[in-house]
Amino acid sequence: MQKKINTKSISPNEAKHVPVLLQEAIEGLNLKEGAVALDATLGVGGHTKEIATRIGHKGTIIGIDADSVAITRAKDTLSNFGFKGEIKFFNTNFRNLDSVLKEAGVEKIDAALFDLGLSSPQIEVSGRGFTFKQEEPLVMTFAEEPKEDEVTALEVVNTWSEETLTLIISSYGEERFAKRIAKAIVESRELGPITTTSQLSKIIEEAIPYVARKKQKIHPATRTFQGIRMAVNDEVGALTEALPKAFGALNSHGRMAIISFHSIEDRIVKRYFQEKGKEGTAKIITKRPLIASEEETHENPKSRSAKLRIIEKI
Ligand SMILES: C[S@@+](CC[C@H](N)C(=O)[O-])C[C@H]1O[C@@H](n2cnc3c(N)ncnc32)[C@H](O)[C@@H]1O
Repeated sequence: MQKKINTKSISPNEAKHVPVLLQEAIEGLNLKEGAVALDATLGVGGHTKEIATRIGHKGTIIGIDADSVAITRAKDTLSNFGFKGEIKFFNTNFRNLDSVLKEAGVEKIDAALFDLGLSSPQIEVSGRGFTFKQEEPLVMTFAEEPKEDEVTALEVVNTWSEETLTLIISSYGEERFAKRIAKAIVESRELGPITTTSQLSKIIEEAIPYVARKKQKIHPATRTFQGIRMAVNDEVGALTEALPKAFGALNSHGRMAIISFHSIEDRIVKRYFQEKGKEGTAKIITKRPLIASEEETHENPKSRSAKLRIIEKI
């Protein structure tokens, strides 16, 4: 019988991150007691907690997050929950998951979960410039303290060419006014550096024609901020590198579940899964991506764009 998961019980103080497609992803991973599971995107530990419930005290979790604050939150979630199995945390990009598994002394895994993008606390309280609703510095890195050689939003906005800005805002941001916005950013930075979210948001807003702006249901800066964030963290590159590494590490009958929020990411996952299906090395469990129910989208509007795909290694 299917065990119903109560998502509302997940957090009293985790800045209200509600795990998306929780039931579907956890059921889809087909976890057994004593399994070894990789959570490549710990976030606040919402999915991990359910993984822990399924694999029990003989199970092992390898948890990754590029954000050290997320690791702390996930640790809290699991210690409050009283998980007695083994758990190893790695504060790194999931594109390095091969080295992570090596360091953890784990050769094969039974399940891998990727829940892409950002958690609610990152957007709302990290102060790293993911939101245009507050005055924040332009950082937008997953890592809390970006290293000196790491790209930040400040660098993207103030030094990348108009052509590259147009490209990332239109492809990652899916913003139809990308060209106008990129031009406005370049014109503005000629007068002085763009250093805060409010400054950037205002430039974007003014670059979008008034009539189009009035018709939009979302804030005019939403898409551009998304495009810049995805470029800063090379999110598409990281996913493309991580998929074969995770699949390679799966045991026979092991499953991988990916929740994505962007059409480019969903396409990468879909094509990779199709390739494995054609090769005869995997069975695709979700012929079509699973999406959130009406009830879930009502309770958690962020789940509206989520797509879940699951594959099983043969
Ligand atoms: C949507 S949240 C995950 C939420 C989590 N499933 C939960 O229920 O609490 C995505 C998390 O993945 C992390 N992340 C995104 N891309 C990453 C990458 N390439 N490498 C490592 N962590 C990444 C983010 O820092 C964020 O904490």
